[in-house]
Amino acid sequence: MDLSLMQKRYHVTTFGCQMNEHDSERMKGMLESLDYRAAEEQADADVILFNTCSIRETADSRFVAHLGHAKRVKKERPETIIGVGGCWAQSLKDEVFQQFPFVDVAFGPGQVHKLAEFLTSDSLTAQGYFEFEGFAGDLPDKRTREHQGWVQISVGCNCNCSYCIVPQTRGRESSRPFDGVVREVERLAGEGVREVTLLGQNVNAYGRDLRDAGGPRTFAELLAAVDGVEGIERVRYTSPHPKDMKEDVILAHAQLASVCEHIHLPLQSGSTPILKAMRRTYNRERYLDRVALIREHVPDCAITTDIIVGFPGETEEDFQLTLDVCEQVGYDGAFTFVFSPRRGTEAALITEGLVPHEVKVERMERLVEVVQRRAHERAQRFVGRTMEVLVEGTSRTDPSRLRGRTRHNKAVNFTGLAQPGELVMVEIERATSQTLAGAESLLARAGAGVG
Ligand code: 5AD
Ligand code: SF4
Repeated sequence: MDLSLMQKRYHVTTFGCQMNEHDSERMKGMLESLDYRAAEEQADADVILFNTCSIRETADSRFVAHLGHAKRVKKERPETIIGVGGCWAQSLKDEVFQQFPFVDVAFGPGQVHKLAEFLTSDSLTAQGYFEFEGFAGDLPDKRTREHQGWVQISVGCNCNCSYCIVPQTRGRESSRPFDGVVREVERLAGEGVREVTLLGQNVNAYGRDLRDAGGPRTFAELLAAVDGVEGIERVRYTSPHPKDMKEDVILAHAQLASVCEHIHLPLQSGSTPILKAMRRTYNRERYLDRVALIREHVPDCAITTDIIVGFPGETEEDFQLTLDVCEQVGYDGAFTFVFSPRRGTEAALITEGLVPHEVKVERMERLVEVVQRRAHERAQRFVGRTMEVLVEGTSRTDPSRLRGRTRHNKAVNFTGLAQPGELVMVEIERATSQTLAGAESLLARAGAGVG
């Protein structure tokens, strides 16, 4: 008899940010350690999980459509367990069960370990887990890419950005002990991981709250320790807050070999009055000053950003100031969001100066045009260079080619013979705003400092 037929199966659908992607990996790792295995389709799973997000309106509506499908599965097979985790679940709390009575378990972000508790308890009746605890502890994770790993370094956020639901859903900031982070990176390196991304809502505030053996630590110290781990060739992190972007962190990019030449520096708005209303605690000049410092120490650094258009009170003049920052900085890429009010946030209560939907859409189009044009122009600096690429697999559009990423976090499609996980040198021939194209160089050696 095939024992695998007796094994229970799970299916996880993830919405939203990298933090959620990572939480999903932890959920999968946890489920596998409980002897569950992955199901290809929701319909074949004994446990159907959704890891939700409430940052973007579109994720919400997509998610409700997905839940409809799970409801049908539950009707046909009532023993199926439906679980909803993540920020959206947290923002609704027990209302989840009123609105969606077929949901069995709901849990907030960082409560992944509670899912294990639930699945192993005797009574599988509807339960919600939403309390905030400090760091949820080490859980096994299941990596989607063998050579890239994510490491959570903190949970929660102490900022009060008026549009943002995260402080409510993820609670106060709590840093993971320094040695614990380093040990996890060492473990990953031992398993063949070459690139790690350190994750947190505000990574460069890391360590201020630590009271363990070493007392408070800085993010720059953590970068140095992770850089020192044998086998780790690339270190990335997301997201930092411009207010905490100190010179020591910028210098880490210049001085530590594995810290990549890419900084994601969320702008949100280029207008000081709007930044004030957003409670971002920096102004336009201070942001541009951070960019200047990055360019001084790491001239070739890729800079990407997050921008919100249509925040309440945003005038055409304010919006122009945002466009102007995009022109000046020349981002290598940007995530652009239309403001949408989030339940329980300060900005959701603003009734004056609301920006009509058509105006938001029209501003978004103009913003995307500037961002893409500048990204396209900036990307031309790579053409003709031979750059180090970490191979991820075959190209999505052309299976005869390979796909990978440069240290600047640009996706590259190229011809070559390399295997996933290898670092190779690629001669860049063409560049668009999003991707580079080229051919593997058989002469240059990766790690030889070219690029
Ligand atoms: N409306 C639009 N965009 C938002 N973001 C966060 N909250 C909102 C909101 N209410 C964006 C910010 C943040 C990114 C992850 O999501 O730009 O940096
Ligand atoms: Fe939200 Fe602001 Fe914290 Fe980022 S820094 S998670 S936008 S409150």
